[in-house]
Amino acid sequence: MMAAAKRIDQLGGVPDFNPEGLATRAASEYGDGGNLVEMVRQNLVAERLVIEHYQELIRFFGDRDPTTRIMLEGILAEEEEHATDMHDLLIAHEGRPFLS
Ligand SMILES: [Fe+2]
Repeated sequence: MMAAAKRIDQLGGVPDFNPEGLATRAASEYGDGGNLVEMVRQNLVAERLVIEHYQELIRFFGDRDPTTRIMLEGILAEEEEHATDMHDLLIAHEGRPFLS
């Protein structure tokens, strides 16, 4: 998220690193896990929520701010990799896709 903080700074804003309130600003919820498989499931759901959030942000910025849009597209690609990794772990464990 340093890229986002740097971009906020470039735009004249002040990045908010205060952990207090992070949960209220997050696109996903903090899960309490349970066992490892459940933690991977929860992480996959969270990754997919974050992917949807970045897709919305990318549409919002569109041509209004191409630099921010390009930065977000890079983050989106990383989040899609995370989701693929979690999905692959679940397939390896359960032998079938989780969520379609
Ligand atoms: Fe992620």
